[in-house]
Amino acid sequence: MNRPVLEGLRLNTPAYVRHSRLVEWVAEVAALTEAKDVHWCDGSTAEYDRLCAGLVAAGTFKKLNPELRPNSYLACSSPSDVARVEDRTFICSEKKEDAGPTNNWMAPGEMRELLQTGDKALFRGAMRGRTMYVVPFSMGPLGSPIAHIGVELSDSPYVAVNMKIMTRMGRQVLEVLGADGDFVPCVHTVGAPLEPGQKDVAWPCNTTKYIVHYPETQEIWSYGSGYGGNALLGKKCFALRIASTMGRDQGWLAEHMLILGVTSPEGKKHHVAAAFPSACGKTNFAMLIPPAGLDGWKVTTIGDDIAWIKPGKDGRLHAINPEAGYFGVAPGTNEKTNFNCMASLKRDVIFTNVAMTDAGDVWWEGMTDTPPAHLIDWQGKDWTPAIAKETGAKAAHPNARFTVAATNNPALDPEWDNPAGVPIDAFIFGGRRSTTVPLVTEARNWVEGVYMAATMGSETTAAAAGKQGVVRRDPFAMLPFTGYNMSDYFQHWLDIGQKLETTGAALPKVYCVNWFRKGSDGKFVWPGFGENLRVLKWMLERVQGRAHGTDNLLGVTPNYEDITWKGLDFTPEQFRQVTSMDTAAWKTELGLHAELFQKLAHHLPAELTATKARIEARLAD
Ligand code: GTP
Ligand code: SPV
Ligand code: MN
Repeated sequence: MNRPVLEGLRLNTPAYVRHSRLVEWVAEVAALTEAKDVHWCDGSTAEYDRLCAGLVAAGTFKKLNPELRPNSYLACSSPSDVARVEDRTFICSEKKEDAGPTNNWMAPGEMRELLQTGDKALFRGAMRGRTMYVVPFSMGPLGSPIAHIGVELSDSPYVAVNMKIMTRMGRQVLEVLGADGDFVPCVHTVGAPLEPGQKDVAWPCNTTKYIVHYPETQEIWSYGSGYGGNALLGKKCFALRIASTMGRDQGWLAEHMLILGVTSPEGKKHHVAAAFPSACGKTNFAMLIPPAGLDGWKVTTIGDDIAWIKPGKDGRLHAINPEAGYFGVAPGTNEKTNFNCMASLKRDVIFTNVAMTDAGDVWWEGMTDTPPAHLIDWQGKDWTPAIAKETGAKAAHPNARFTVAATNNPALDPEWDNPAGVPIDAFIFGGRRSTTVPLVTEARNWVEGVYMAATMGSETTAAAAGKQGVVRRDPFAMLPFTGYNMSDYFQHWLDIGQKLETTGAALPKVYCVNWFRKGSDGKFVWPGFGENLRVLKWMLERVQGRAHGTDNLLGVTPNYEDITWKGLDFTPEQFRQVTSMDTAAWKTELGLHAELFQKLAHHLPAELTATKARIEARLAD
């Protein structure tokens, strides 16, 4: 700790910090990055308010009109830093095959040289002129046996305040950590050191970006981005990529899934976990309000993005939400599509990359039918409906997001932070497919369910940098998030099923859904949102052995009369449009499954190839 570079730098370690390994590591990273100062986050509201005021003074935040949106802020990022960067995300396992063909890989030594140890290492001096925030956080309820602790060192106060909302963050975490508890070290810099006298920009970042994971040593190093999953390291980096490797080694699952509770009018409650790729409807499904005609049903939110799922002593799978807040997609959210979400956003929100109204409130595409006459768009430019019509300019970035505490959600499930989790009755997997994939299919058994999840395709969205609307395989909605070899991950799912089967408890049923089939007019045929409860109701009735279905190519699908239509005008012809399976399209689709399996051939479970052969045989009939 008495290296020359640390001379003059006070670590400001609070008296309550008793963990010498943590203090040493903080000192090391401060020395490497040449941070100007160190701030240990205590997680208090007073600290949050101070940091937000600082962000306002720095121009990163605009305070919204407190009468319209109390205690809320708007941040607008650099146009070069608006989404996750999958091509800059690396799994640096010792062996390349452990990262597998779906992850970018570099040897750990080589990556460390590039980031930490080389003469020109990117983290060297990266925090010059900036304060380094020490952000201790717990994924899962504080002190619970299923929770895991991380500490993020970041030179972004935006990250610190977002982490306060998204996780259990602050002093109590260090108390749980004690003198020698384990934590996942997460280092983050925006990669924009300030030289003496240099003026800062509102959204510092670097065109060079690295989002790096070392699974063996359970470390995360993130360079160059301040946005979302690139920078809030508890979320995708820890709770999915690192946690998935913990789950592989310890017999549990870390998944890109919402968790919801659904209570029937008779008062029977079920729990489902659903994996949809990024920006494909998890937040919406988790907060669903029953449509007209299904009065008396109730959906409650346990989580909207990540589930940690562990086999319980009862032989069932129990899921918890490791997060404490929502970092959700703003565009498309409105009182009709997601009333509970709009209610959650009434106050205490950090908005990122939405537009600002003249009255100092926020707006995004789809919030209201008629846009305001004038806005300042997410890039700070004047925006009017006429300008939008002429140039196509969006007021909000398509990946604009809100950060809000789970406790703001009026539909929050009372069990949402129960360390024991909730027992899962069904898993749902759903991609965004304008063609080919039917509204809902039930897998006939666990292996077919794993096959459906493994081969899921989805059109890419604005949640990741790159082209949008391109169909790609997104196994289990985990393509960007599985921290190890994808074939080993499939095997892990099969193993969990096999292990549970021996306990005699019923395995969760597995479903595949698609809310996004389009008609020849290019419009969604299925009304979606609240109406998705009709499909969920059928699934739950199947779980209870009460509903009918017909075998199709992949599994079991409902007939028109198996769905409750009360309150919705949806004709048998429309139903045919969203459930039909075209033989030629499915031949092509199976070709895409084959391509995936070829890519994943190393360690690909034989059960999956056998399942594919059975589907092909049925298709040939
Ligand atoms: P991440 O936070 O990126 O992991 O995404 P998410 O899965 O939580 O996505 P979210 O629920 O925020 O939905 C993203 C977009 O899909 C929004 O623009 C929604 O309006 C739209 N969407 C959600 N559910 C439906 C649906 O049932 N039908 C249609 N057509 N659109 C939907
Ligand atoms: C996703 O992309 O799946 C998200 C948003 O949930 S981010 O946290 O940026 O990864
Ligand atoms: Mn997500």
